[in-house]
Amino acid sequence: MTPFLKWAGGKRWFTQRYSHLLPKQYRRYIEPFLGSGSVFFHLQPQQALLGDSNPDVISAFQGMKEDWAQVRSQLEDHQRLHSDAHYYAVRSQVPDDRTGQAARMIYLNRACFNGIYRVNRKGVFNVPRGTRDTIVFGDDDFQEKAQLLQRAEIWLADFETLIDNAGDGDLVFADPPYTVRHNLNGFVKYNEKLFAWSDQERLAYALFRAHARGAKIVCTNANHSSVRELYADRGFILLDVSRFSPISASADSRRLFEELVIISDPPGRGPK
Ligand SMILES: C[S@@+](CC[C@H](N)C(=O)[O-])C[C@H]1O[C@@H](n2cnc3c(N)ncnc32)[C@H](O)[C@@H]1O
Repeated sequence: MTPFLKWAGGKRWFTQRYSHLLPKQYRRYIEPFLGSGSVFFHLQPQQALLGDSNPDVISAFQGMKEDWAQVRSQLEDHQRLHSDAHYYAVRSQVPDDRTGQAARMIYLNRACFNGIYRVNRKGVFNVPRGTRDTIVFGDDDFQEKAQLLQRAEIWLADFETLIDNAGDGDLVFADPPYTVRHNLNGFVKYNEKLFAWSDQERLAYALFRAHARGAKIVCTNANHSSVRELYADRGFILLDVSRFSPISASADSRRLFEELVIISDPPGRGPK
């Protein structure tokens, strides 16, 4: 099952190539940086706790869980009315009801420039209209997704609240924004506002506590020395993974796309 949102940093590539790094047995699945929820839709767990600090993401999931048919019908209305005027009118106003909010988020996500999510200082979505005109896809299986979401609690919350909820046998899959410790080239500065290095440290400590309570941990992160140091000597396995096939990329460009996976349990069998 694939996500209904397109999300920067989405982990579909991870589910396609590295699903053997995800434990097969666990009690409850916990995903504190939900985004489009690629790993949740891939695993289809029996019981889940999902969260994100982005209210638009959370209302999209909650609306889908509450009444997928209403979301779909409103999305079809957006498809029919789709134009510059309609796009900017929808962008400027957040409906009061959950399903309206969900349909708005999915519409903007599909119609905006490159599927980017960006808000202004007041937290209002401000991405211009993109070139795509298809809003409802033939393979939009909202009913199946809504059925799966019936098994999930969905929280608008900071990641620490969810991770602190993890207990013995639960699986925490954490996919934070990739921030690294301050260095001299300055490119990290922009990230600082979104997810500071202190948040990375807060995340690591929350994961250490959850692990000590018996939770299984899988965390994707930037493959950077600062992140490696943070998780070193804590009983975790650190693995380099590449988003692209090693055969199709040169050694130099490959490094750019390397990411780090931090796991608490030895992986099962490799990819089929
Ligand atoms: C890299 S994306 C996750 C992508 C997701 N794994 C997927 O496949 O689509 C990171 C997410 O973390 C969320 N986020 C950022 N700061 C957060 C915080 N302090 N607590 C919870 N979520 C946060 C963002 O809103 C974003 O959706």
